Amino acid sequence: MSDHKPVLVSGVKPTGDLHIGNYFGAMRQFVELTKEGKYRPYIFVADYHALNTMQDAEEMRRRTRELVMAYIAVGLDPERVVFFKQSDVPAHTELCWIFDTITTMPYLMRAHAFKDAEAKNNEISVGTFNYPLLMAADILLYDASVVPVGQDQKQHIEYARDTAEKFNRIYKSEVFKLPEPYIMPEVAIVLGTDGQKMSKSYGNVIPLFATREVLTKAVMSIVTDSSGARPENVYQIHKLVRSESDLQALYKEHEGSYKTLKEALIEDLDRYLAPMRDRYEELKNDPGIVDQVLQRGKIEARAASEAKMERVRAAIGVN
Ligand code: ADP
Ligand code: TRP
Repeated sequence: MSDHKPVLVSGVKPTGDLHIGNYFGAMRQFVELTKEGKYRPYIFVADYHALNTMQDAEEMRRRTRELVMAYIAVGLDPERVVFFKQSDVPAHTELCWIFDTITTMPYLMRAHAFKDAEAKNNEISVGTFNYPLLMAADILLYDASVVPVGQDQKQHIEYARDTAEKFNRIYKSEVFKLPEPYIMPEVAIVLGTDGQKMSKSYGNVIPLFATREVLTKAVMSIVTDSSGARPENVYQIHKLVRSESDLQALYKEHEGSYKTLKEALIEDLDRYLAPMRDRYEELKNDPGIVDQVLQRGKIEARAASEAKMERVRAAIGVN
């Protein structure tokens, strides 16, 4: 169980239907990183983090399962990855509480996410305020060396480092290891059907597991304008699934014929996405697999985190 590989930890919130922007911008790098065999990876569904914004039991259950299926479908290997649900491992919230007791409010008030929420004049929940400390617990429980996240999460990794240092200092211990952020290289922003950043909130997405029919509809709706030599919005999506040298010839040959180019894009996207979509459909028809994966993940994550909690309890004197 404990080989000496550095540990990789990351969490994904089960919010939102996945689109190809999520895949090319995040999921694909995740799969690559955990495939290398360089790390011991722990990846979890951050359902307790999601609870701040998603408060519908049916939706929580459905999206959690969809997320697990999606990651398996795009190639995350549950044999190599400890893949689990945050809520299945009580040590996350337990350690979060302990961190609460050594953290000041002004320090948490400096979090960008908190300041953004405050600027929007939202009524902020205690859970949202405390978000960085639950995340610190997620990371520190497993002695993570690397935490792959998007740029927007960088500050949260700093909170985890500060919290580890503070705990170690107060309790004169070496219980926690300081994690390093691994900021996933900014993959060029994937653009949506309207030429803006693809995002579920803009209604401009190409769903990751779209059927051919849905793909066709989405591609046909791509906004084209005739100002340049080629339909830029079509090309930008096309280059995700086909080499630019191929595309230059193709776009030259069919200059001005947007319909032909869109048809070629449908064809290429469909070919690229079909294996993942098929795998996703298979998993939907075999729900036992998701249960098995989560069950195994839960056992392994509990064992690792309990061992750490023993040391934490001893350090603070509640053992
Ligand atoms: P959305 O913008 O649809 O709400 P999320 O914020 O849930 O997407 O993003 C989840 C992950 O997918 C993030 O790590 C983000 O970097 C990545 N991602 C989302 N949209 C894009 C995009 N258009 N291009 C590149 N990466 C993206
Ligand atoms: N906050 C992260 C996000 O919004 C999700 C997350 C929760 C996470 N816990 C984590 C990421 C621990 C890395 C490590 O994307």
